[in-house]
Amino acid sequence: MERRCKHLHWKAFLVTTPALLWFAMLLVAMRLSSAEPLRVGYYDLSCPSAERIIRQAMERGMQQDQGIAAGVLRLHFHDCFVEGCDGSVLLDNPNSEKTSPPNFSLRGFEVVDAAKADLEALCPGVVSCADILAFGARDAVELMGGLGWRVRAGRYDGRVSSAARALAEIPDPRYTVEEITALFARKGLSKSDMIVLSGAHTIGRAHCASVTPRLYPVQDPQMSQAMAAFLRTACPPQGGSAATFSLDSTTPYRFDNMYYTNLIANRGLLHSDQALINDMSTRGETIFNSFAAGPWAFQFSRVMIEMGNIQVKSGPDGEIRRHCRFIN
Ligand code: HEM
Repeated sequence: MERRCKHLHWKAFLVTTPALLWFAMLLVAMRLSSAEPLRVGYYDLSCPSAERIIRQAMERGMQQDQGIAAGVLRLHFHDCFVEGCDGSVLLDNPNSEKTSPPNFSLRGFEVVDAAKADLEALCPGVVSCADILAFGARDAVELMGGLGWRVRAGRYDGRVSSAARALAEIPDPRYTVEEITALFARKGLSKSDMIVLSGAHTIGRAHCASVTPRLYPVQDPQMSQAMAAFLRTACPPQGGSAATFSLDSTTPYRFDNMYYTNLIANRGLLHSDQALINDMSTRGETIFNSFAAGPWAFQFSRVMIEMGNIQVKSGPDGEIRRHCRFIN
């Protein structure tokens, strides 16, 4: 009897093992084909210190220059909008995204390089450059006093980077709300998402080149007189000035919702910022964000996660770069 039971037991094992195996394989297949390949804790086993290392690189960079936070946050945005979040903005080629006019003033590359070097020393070939940007952007917001979020990781790095694509996909500050909304829609983001994400301009700076079209030949009536007078002293009509101005002139080093309050007072630096108040279709939400600090911060985190999902690459169509400036 005992022998028979053992026999049955083994038989059951033989029957159930393939079934279990199939089930496990199905789960893996579902995971691979999932529309959302990213997950929180992606490096928990393969490189448990990844997030800490990136955070430390950000902190070191910000000790040298606090503006690095704004730089890295913008890098992640410009990365995701061109070829998806795949580190393509980091590549050094004669015609790469970096060489395109909307990317001339990007900064923070050195911090990404430093984080990558530390990661390669500890867990070579594991953490993608695209994920460094996603973690770095979250750290930037937190380190500037904003609300953080749990970053989903698992992006692969791309091998293509085109200046022409960057020119076509990165919004220009002279665009209307309608034009910017259309660009965001192409990335699966709504007009509300665009209003929420524009709040990133609560930190960082802009150069004269981004504001002179609002000063000459005629002053944009939607710019406060005091602000226009101040900007004209630093930005001559013929150009050539390297002066910069805080995008949020009230609390430039704090990740808060003061950006929206400034817009109500016609103190938006970029035409595209001020347009959020002047366009009736965005005015209401913009005013709401100016007094709803908590809800806006929460929405900002949510939409950053959404943005981080844009056209993410997986193993077959990407790689884990060894150096963020070059494909392997
Ligand atoms: C809505 C359309 C947007 C337009 C037209 C726009 C345009 C610009 C421009 C022209 C600058 C200044 C460049 C310069 O003169 O140096 C700038 C800076 C910046 N942008 Fe945007 N941007 C947009 C959306 C976003 C989004 C969605 C984010 C992030 C989620 C972002 C983050 C930043 C940051 C942090 C800076 C400051 C960078 C620094 O200080 O180095 N922007 N943006």
